[in-house]
Amino acid sequence: MGLLSEIESRVSVRGFTDEPVSDAQLARIIEAGRLAPSAKNRQSWRFIVIENKELRSRIRDAAFGQDYVGQAPVVVALCTTNIEYKMPNGQLSYPIDLSMAASFMMLQAVHEGLGTCMVTTFREEEVKSLLTVPYSMRVVMLLTIGHASGKSQRADRLPVKRIVSHNHW
Ligand SMILES: Cc1cc2nc3c(=O)[nH]c(=O)nc-3n(C[C@H](O)[C@H](O)[C@H](O)COP(=O)(O)O)c2cc1C
Repeated sequence: MGLLSEIESRVSVRGFTDEPVSDAQLARIIEAGRLAPSAKNRQSWRFIVIENKELRSRIRDAAFGQDYVGQAPVVVALCTTNIEYKMPNGQLSYPIDLSMAASFMMLQAVHEGLGTCMVTTFREEEVKSLLTVPYSMRVVMLLTIGHASGKSQRADRLPVKRIVSHNHW
């Protein structure tokens, strides 16, 4: 499959089977995140891999009880180790850095035949406490990873005409 076809086939998966994600698949997904670009290559991130069933069900509770979060055999908590660093444009780098890592992981997961969903609907303080994340750091997002239990609906995208312009706004 070409890269664009894989990008096209990625959808947010919100239902997972019990089938485990193999260690080799997980290692490649994490490797994809590790290789993602970050501002000034600071790599101010930590990826906490959660496979323990009890912990996953507590993470699900912190994610407002969303079932699919507890179903996924793997949840990765993408955390920043620097909440202050700003890029030359004056904007914080960590939401972008972590999004880059998550994107790379999601695409590698597609390549592995796995489904993912980026989750930001969670009580951060509760997740931090469950994962013993230090006070000064943040859990930016959760990434659920597993085998899709059904077909997900493809979400529409705006047409190119609406979102691209050339040489001016
Ligand atoms: C920054 C960000 C936060 C998101 N947070 C959630 C979330 O908390 N829960 C969820 O079910 N999906 C979440 N999503 C997934 C989006 O809803 C989804 O990507 C969007 O609706 C497009 O659908 P698609 O991923 O299937 O193409 C998030 C996606 C992004 C990029």
